[in-house]
Amino acid sequence: MTTNAEDRRPQASCHEKSMSRECGAELSRLRILLGETTESWRTLAAEHFLAAAMAAVATRGAFHVVVPGGSTPRLAFAAVVEAGSLLDWRRVHVYFGDERVVAPDHPDSNYRMMREAFLDHVPIPAEQVYRIEGERVAEDAAALYEETLARFLGGSKETKFDLVILGLGPDGHVASLIPGCPLDSSGAWVGVGRAPMSNAAVRRVTMTPAALRRACELALWVRGEDKANVVRHALRGGGATMVPEVEPVDGRTTWILDRAAASQLTGE
Ligand code: 6PG
Repeated sequence: MTTNAEDRRPQASCHEKSMSRECGAELSRLRILLGETTESWRTLAAEHFLAAAMAAVATRGAFHVVVPGGSTPRLAFAAVVEAGSLLDWRRVHVYFGDERVVAPDHPDSNYRMMREAFLDHVPIPAEQVYRIEGERVAEDAAALYEETLARFLGGSKETKFDLVILGLGPDGHVASLIPGCPLDSSGAWVGVGRAPMSNAAVRRVTMTPAALRRACELALWVRGEDKANVVRHALRGGGATMVPEVEPVDGRTTWILDRAAASQLTGE
């Protein structure tokens, strides 16, 4: 994270100084950041997260972030915890892009993964961690989360998450939004769907594209050779991915890739 003499805010910020929850001037709508090694990828992801957080807290007094599920976040959030001592964690609000319909202590729970990798290690007030209650019937959990998101997003169409972080599945899914598979049911901000890939029997509660697009910035954290083809499709077209459905209306998208996930982009 860098700052220059005349402007003490982190240079990574794309936000102007305002106390509203509106995004600031666009610096660029698309960025692709490449971490050559596992260590450099995790550092890149952590520095990007902390720069966005510091900028949001400095300009609007709070940082509202949507975190992803899956396995990739463990690596990045461990680095966030290591490097996050300067951030005022009391200003941070954490939302979940999706959740499996399981108890919060179940091995498959995204909340459990985030608690182990991140939430247990930083002093974010418990009331500012808005988990999807996967222990409930899916439709009930979705209805409750719809109320949670409506309280944040419903007041003004200018209100946005400062950062939405998503992973990307090999089939092009993000959160629990799967190409060609409509949700079983959906409110404005939250829907009920199925697990991607071969786990279709497992139900999921997910933010809708309308909710995920309400972002100053979307970050896609993608690692691994198995994602190279879908990354190429998402960035160059030619295949089904949900990324276009969730890109910010007037924000920016930052891809944080490792060398393997970017391997089909080079040479163009
Ligand atoms: C989930 C996520 C899902 C995940 C991608 C990538 O609950 O699993 O919402 O969308 O982000 O499948 O997962 P990895 O990061 O583990 O590859």
